[in-house]
Amino acid sequence: MSDQTLSATSPTPPTLPTHPTSPTLPMSATSPMSPAPALDDTMDLGTSAASGAAPGPGSPRLTAAGGDLRAESVSAWFGDRKVLDHVSLDMPKGVVTALIGPSGCGKSTFLRILNRMHELVPKATLAGRVLLDGRDVYDPQRRLTEARSAIGMVFQKPNPFPAMSIYDNVVAGLRLTGRRAGRAEKDHLVEESLTKAGLWREVGNRLDQPGGALSGGQQQRLCIARSLAVRPRVLLMDEPCSALDPTSTRRIEETIGELADEVTIVIVTHNMQQAHRVSQQCAFFLAEQGTPGRIVEYGPTAAMFGSPQDQRTSDYVNGRFG
Ligand SMILES: Nc1ncnc2c1ncn2[C@@H]1O[C@H](COP(=O)(O)OP(=O)(O)OP(=O)(O)O)[C@@H](O)[C@H]1O
Ligand SMILES: [Mg+2]
Repeated sequence: MSDQTLSATSPTPPTLPTHPTSPTLPMSATSPMSPAPALDDTMDLGTSAASGAAPGPGSPRLTAAGGDLRAESVSAWFGDRKVLDHVSLDMPKGVVTALIGPSGCGKSTFLRILNRMHELVPKATLAGRVLLDGRDVYDPQRRLTEARSAIGMVFQKPNPFPAMSIYDNVVAGLRLTGRRAGRAEKDHLVEESLTKAGLWREVGNRLDQPGGALSGGQQQRLCIARSLAVRPRVLLMDEPCSALDPTSTRRIEETIGELADEVTIVIVTHNMQQAHRVSQQCAFFLAEQGTPGRIVEYGPTAAMFGSPQDQRTSDYVNGRFG
């Protein structure tokens, strides 16, 4: 395992922490608050356009091949404060992985490290490695947008562009990844992404309406469609249902089940029933008494809930703390 320390972002890299002694790689990054790009009608969809394939029923499947994600001994700091300690986890393709644990144990930080969003936080640093299909996500030779388009993220609060149409919301990510597509291809992609996200039947006849006019549950599925449109190999979901009603929650859970064959899914949830319902593998994070977060136990979800090996896991999944 390499023990590189990856510094955070910003035009002026922040002062590096003194704790890790290994070499430091300053990373460049764009701001997550960058305005949405102007959209045009000539976006490229990469594989299909490059190969000259026409869109339509025979077009390539929505997501790219691959999707095995692996974290190796990941540690993280905010300034001098260590918040994650040597976290290793395999998140294989075709398996939904749930991350559970009490508030503040580092679940969101871990998720942000997986798709290089952690480095956008001032004074945030990390050590360890993240491998997607065997390739280092933090390889300095790799473009940041490459990692972000391969590993999408859906947040707790739905964040569509509210004034932008449903259609343009779905294709909004393409420009950021440098892909180009003609109108027909975009039409196809919009339908396919919304169908995969379980929203097409509800909005297919009103794509020109603003994203902000949808219900909370629909907005969250629109955000999932937006993530899928760039053909990710992995979809990270940070408490995607915590702001939703039970019906919308159930709809998102169905969507997760439908997507899992094609996209590796890692979901953070505080809802134990949800973790039980949607995941096949589960990791229990804990930060005890001011120590950094660690994985206490991980394994098949049924075993984690039915016969946990560690007393702390048992206490947590049975609601005795957290
Ligand atoms: N931007 C930040 N700057 C400094 N400290 C941070 C920052 N973000 C998170 N932390 C700290 O890192 C630790 C882990 O936070 P994180 O948000 O990853 O926890 P979490 O498990 O996702 O919690 P929750 O379940 O409440 O969402 C916490 O102690 C938190 O205070
Ligand atoms: Mg969190």
